[in-house]
Amino acid sequence: MLADRTSLFTESVIREMTRLALVHGAINLAQGFPDFAAPEVVKEAAVEAIRADHNQYAITWGAKRLRDAVAAKTARFYGYEPDPEREVTVSCGATEAMMAALLATINPGDEVIVFEPFYENYVPDAAISGATLVFVPLEEPHYRVDPDRLRAAFGPRTKAIIVNTPNNPSGRVFSREEMECIAALCQEFDALCITDEIYEHILYDEHLHINMATLPGMRERTITISGLSKTFSVTGWRIGYLIAPPELTDGIRKVHDFLTVGAPAPLQEAAATALALDDTYYEQLRTLYVGKREILLQALTDAGFGVVRPEGAYYIMADIRPFGADNDVEFARYLTREIGVAPVPGSSFYQDTELGRSKVRFTFSKSEATLRIAAERLSALSVRV
Ligand SMILES: Cc1ncc(COP(=O)(O)O)c(C=O)c1O
Repeated sequence: MLADRTSLFTESVIREMTRLALVHGAINLAQGFPDFAAPEVVKEAAVEAIRADHNQYAITWGAKRLRDAVAAKTARFYGYEPDPEREVTVSCGATEAMMAALLATINPGDEVIVFEPFYENYVPDAAISGATLVFVPLEEPHYRVDPDRLRAAFGPRTKAIIVNTPNNPSGRVFSREEMECIAALCQEFDALCITDEIYEHILYDEHLHINMATLPGMRERTITISGLSKTFSVTGWRIGYLIAPPELTDGIRKVHDFLTVGAPAPLQEAAATALALDDTYYEQLRTLYVGKREILLQALTDAGFGVVRPEGAYYIMADIRPFGADNDVEFARYLTREIGVAPVPGSSFYQDTELGRSKVRFTFSKSEATLRIAAERLSALSVRV
């Protein structure tokens, strides 16, 4: 009785690993959500909003205060101010934002380019919206864009490219040169660029996030997606947003309205407070994650994994070949069951699953205490193998 589209994707492997972690009492370094507190002022703002009876539907495309805050924040960080009335839509997380963006722009059979490794949601998103995905592998070991390979993926049926930087799972932050290469191809082939910038504020070392809409000729063909989940450690609040030119926003808002009506009203008020926090907050967030990255990098290196230092986001793709392992799924299960640390099998981030067989992904979006216990457990691996 099921529709064909449900057979085009499987249940999330990440959630499966989370279940396995629970069964075996393993530390869950699979699913990318923080196990530490959200900022006090942001939580207070949510409590206040409920007390002030922000309990009914907000305007379907987002509470005005939040849309204004998104516009102001975009001006502060990227130097252009989208029109909150015509270019900003609040959604139930970046997840709904991506779905709404694709449903609003894709006709069945349109091609959408995705780099691999990719965030696993893009496959079901494509199946639901009728998009045909065209995969372009990033060049390993540093996950760089190969301009020739990318050009070869563009064609007359290309409707859009999805660009996720800072990237989950690879930790890559695309350079200006790479973003310019993507921008030039979008213009040449008259394609949209849909960006997933959910990790825009989690950056390391000298790496800078380039907002695609700021590149010449790109604002009119870019749908920018971001949200509160990662920057404010509130993945369960389900607040995200899209910034797009007015004509695209009209279509996106229609889809969004009938998908969800709107994001949680009191949490939209709190989100407006969060986005307005001063630069110190964003600096502290980076410092926090720099420390966490170091703990996990050290633990993985000491245990014997091959690692590439992430430039942004909060994941490490680790090479399991030094252990003589060549099956990521078996290795991930072994690690969860026997060592007590749950990663995600690398193949779940690839269309060509063979490309991911030699890897597992760990998140370090956990408290220092959790990461230290994980490090301790991982050290048993070097002794065993
Ligand atoms: C690349 C990427 N996009 C989107 C999301 C989901 O964001 P949200 O919680 O805003 O739906 C995640 C969560 O892991 C992610 O890694």
